[in-house]
This record gives sequence, structure tokens and C-alpha cells, in this order.
Amino acid sequence: MSWLAEKNLVLGVTGGVAAYKAADLARQLVKAGARVSVVLSEAGARFVSAATFQALSGNPVWTDLWDDRMSNSMAHIDLSRGADAILIAPATADVMAKLAQGLAPDLLTTLCLARDCPLLVAPAMNRQMWEHPATLRNAAQLKADGVVILGPDHGEQACGEIGLGRMLEPEALLELLETYFAPKVLAGTRIVMTAGPTFEAIDPVRGITNSSSGKMGYALARACAQAGAQVNLVSGPVALASPLGVDRVSVQSALEMRAAVLERVAGADVFIGVAAVADYRPATQAEHKIKKSGEALALTLVPNPDILAEVAALPDGPFCVGFAAESQNLDEYAARKRAAKGLPMIVGNLVQDGLGGDENQVVIYDDLGRHPLPRGPKDRVASQIVSHLARLMNALTSPVTPCTTST
Ligand code: CTP
Repeated sequence: MSWLAEKNLVLGVTGGVAAYKAADLARQLVKAGARVSVVLSEAGARFVSAATFQALSGNPVWTDLWDDRMSNSMAHIDLSRGADAILIAPATADVMAKLAQGLAPDLLTTLCLARDCPLLVAPAMNRQMWEHPATLRNAAQLKADGVVILGPDHGEQACGEIGLGRMLEPEALLELLETYFAPKVLAGTRIVMTAGPTFEAIDPVRGITNSSSGKMGYALARACAQAGAQVNLVSGPVALASPLGVDRVSVQSALEMRAAVLERVAGADVFIGVAAVADYRPATQAEHKIKKSGEALALTLVPNPDILAEVAALPDGPFCVGFAAESQNLDEYAARKRAAKGLPMIVGNLVQDGLGGDENQVVIYDDLGRHPLPRGPKDRVASQIVSHLARLMNALTSPVTPCTTST
């Protein structure tokens, strides 16, 4: 589920070359289910036209303080009424200075003064402008006034220089906004997780692995971070970017994964094993590439340690959540795994429903029974798993709280 669904957002676009990225941001916000009203400054309109934003947001674009399309010609008041947030992206040094001073010479700045919703700004400017004491002073003042500053990013700038000042990419802004709106049901919790496959080397160029994409684990790590948890993600080899705010360590084999988990798990509140850990590894790893001989080749495999079972057996260990990927008999096998590993909660799915894809269908099993979740995108499934986990954790600390209603 996107936390931006049904949110009323005002997207302010001021005059920087990053305004072209704001067009993509508007598109992504709409895709996430937000209702977006774009307010374009005069300089912003020099970079991207109102028609572009109108087409992408599906709503009229506002530029003029005296626009009479609004009731009573009070665009500066009407637009911020009912808004859940105003996001200015890109925000120039100039608009930041005006906001810090409380100046309101145009529609966007007036709107920011006449608001009772949160204001978030994504600065975009040349590195010298960002590093100028006046800009840093204005940014500090805005923060002190409760404004959320998103970025800026480091990298190559439109002028060819390299440094701090680029606007964050639309994907990063979207993720930060999601985090901003997500209920903080796991605040104060430290979570250690595993995700992805493991790779068990046979020789320097070959190995045994499986087809886990890591998408479910990464979606869950992101959802936990958005819910306010501190997340340590121990990841096998995947082609995925780290979710924002998640501390990731990359490993290859099950033994490396185990070592990385045990290093981090002391004092953690929750451990979630999402990784598809290889159950066996080659007994020996050849130092050099094995040459073909035309003869049959036998590999001896030895069992890998069960990381989840080991963590679940720790004295004073964390609350443990497992995953069970099965190809049949889901209820029976998942329940058996939960009991065998001593887990309060396990998430089961049929591999044909989720492996590698962007959607999943899972059933949560706990002391109260089975709780099927509707099929959906992995990020939506992840936030439902987080809600369930938070209810169980809450029930542990306050026994009167009902922990679930589904059967
Ligand atoms: N797991 C683990 N270490 C292993 C194997 C599994 O931590 N060596 C964890 C997984 O991350 C998952 C749970 O245990 O949370 C179940 O994993 P799964 O592969 O479904 O089951 P296995 O216990 O390996 O049993 P089987 O392969 O026989 O189904």
C-alpha cells in the first residue's frame, strides 16, 4: 500500500533546471494515488510549461496569486486548505530565502505562509549557492521552523561542477514522502533481517544458488524502515538498490550470512529471516576453475547451519519471524516449520505465487491461527506484514490489546 494514496499534495515547482524532474515526480505521485495540485513559479514556468504539469497531474496548474478560478479569488488560501503537505521540488536558493524570511511575493510563497499542513522542500542549486553561508543559514532557519529539508544530493550539476546541490531523484523523493506519511508503528525497534538468495561457491566461477530475487525481503526492509524501525539488512547477491534508511551488508554464502547476522543480532528486538538460504554447500571449494574431463563429476554437499533456528534459540533472543516458501501443502509445512524453529510468526507463500515477481500472496501463521492476506504488490504485502508484526509486538507489551481478527 502506498502511504500517499488519497493524499492531497501541493507540488511547488520553482525555477531550476531540475524542474524537468519535477514533471516525472508529479507523474509518480499520481501513480502512487496522490491528488496533486501543481503551483508553478514564474521562473519554474520558464523551464517546464504549465501544460506539462496539467497533463501529468490531471489537475489545473496554478501560477498566479490573482487567479480567479478559485472561489473568491483566494487561491493562496484555498489551495492549502485540505492539503496534507506542500512539497517544493525543486526549491531554489531564492525561494528558500523568501520562506526563511516569511516573504510572500507570489502564489507559492503566499501559500506557504497561509498553511497549517507540513512543508517539505527539496533544494536544487549550484554547489556554491548551496554552500553559501546565507543559504545554509536559511536552511537551518527553515528546519528550526519545522520545515523538512529533503536533500540536496551530491553529484554532477547542470553547470558541469560536482558537489552538493543537486535535487534528489524523483524516486528518492517519493520514497522519503512515503516514509514521511507512514505510521511509525515500529518506532524504537531494531530489526535484523536477511534477504535474497545465498551463493555457495563450487570454484572461483561457479556456484549453487536459487532464483530468489530478494524483492519481498527488500520490500519488507523498506516497510520496516518507513514504520520507524532501525533496520540492519543482511543481503545475499541481488540486483536491487538498498531501501532508503536501511543499513545493508552484502554477503554471498550461508556461512557469511550467519556470521553477519550473529554479529548484529545481540540486542535486536526482531529478527526476520526472508532469505532463501541454501540448505547445502559444496563440502570443498576448488581454488581454481575446475576443468572439464568428459567424465561424470560428483559434488559432495554438506548441510548449512539454519540461521533462523539458531537465532530463535538464543537465550533472550529477538522476536523471530520466518518465511516459508513451499510448492505444496502450505498450511501443513508452514505450521511445521514454525513449530520446529520455535517462531511466534511465520509468513508462508506458494513459490508459484511470488518467486521473482512483483506481486505475492501470503498467509501469516501465529499462535492465533492463519491469517491470509490479499494478493497484491510486494510493497503492499510488506506493509500488511509490518502492521501484523506491530500488533503482535504490541500485544506482548500490553496484553489487553487484541492482536488480530482474521481467521
Ligand atoms: N532459513 C535460515 N537458514 C537456513 C534455511 C532457512 O535462516 N539454512 C530460514 C529462511 O530464511 C526462512 C525459514 O528459515 O525464514 C524457512 O526457510 P525455507 O527454505 O522455507 O525452509 P527450510 O527450513 O530450509 O526447509 P525446507 O528447505 O526443507 O523447506
